[in-house]
Amino acid sequence: MFKLTSAFVISALAISVARAQDTMGLSWNSTSPYGQSTGVFTLVESTYGYSMAFADGTSSLSATYDSASQTLTQVCPQGGLIAAMIPLEGSSPSTFTIEWVDPTEILPEGSSTTSLVPGDGAFLTTMGSPNGVFAQNGVFKEVSVDGVYVFAWADETFEENQDVTAWIDISDGSAITC
Ligand SMILES: *[C@@H]1O[C@H](CO)[C@@H](O)[C@H](O)[C@H]1NC(C)=O
Repeated sequence: MFKLTSAFVISALAISVARAQDTMGLSWNSTSPYGQSTGVFTLVESTYGYSMAFADGTSSLSATYDSASQTLTQVCPQGGLIAAMIPLEGSSPSTFTIEWVDPTEILPEGSSTTSLVPGDGAFLTTMGSPNGVFAQNGVFKEVSVDGVYVFAWADETFEENQDVTAWIDISDGSAITC
């Protein structure tokens, strides 16, 4: 009886921690044979909402992650938009732009609003993996869409991308204001 109760308490605690909805600041870093870079994201209007592009300076881009719905929701500067991975038409290797959209937006087939998962210090994706386990391959990178570089994920290896990859870094966003 005691065991059962303490197991219940522990799992209730684990759930409350996972759903804490801490505000995270989002920025990028990248590694390449030429060196490492870091920066912030700027939002760029896109067909379905906003894409992200690399920028310098400071940024208010912040979000919360809900583990129950597996949704990343923007807090600043456009509160309420959710992160989506949207297939880039005709791309090979298959590439998804990472965009912020209204939750009611109808997205193209193959899009996902539940494939970005916060890991230790950066986001991981379950995209590109048949079993929903974190993909070992795939890189985050900027890609050109109609001549504008926007942040995306491509189903290719680090080597195929010439030893270059970027990350969506997570920092403490509790002090970020819009
Ligand atoms: C970039 O972020 C990733 C994920 O947090 C980390 O593993 C890597 O060491 C970082 N790279 C640099 C150059 O900071």
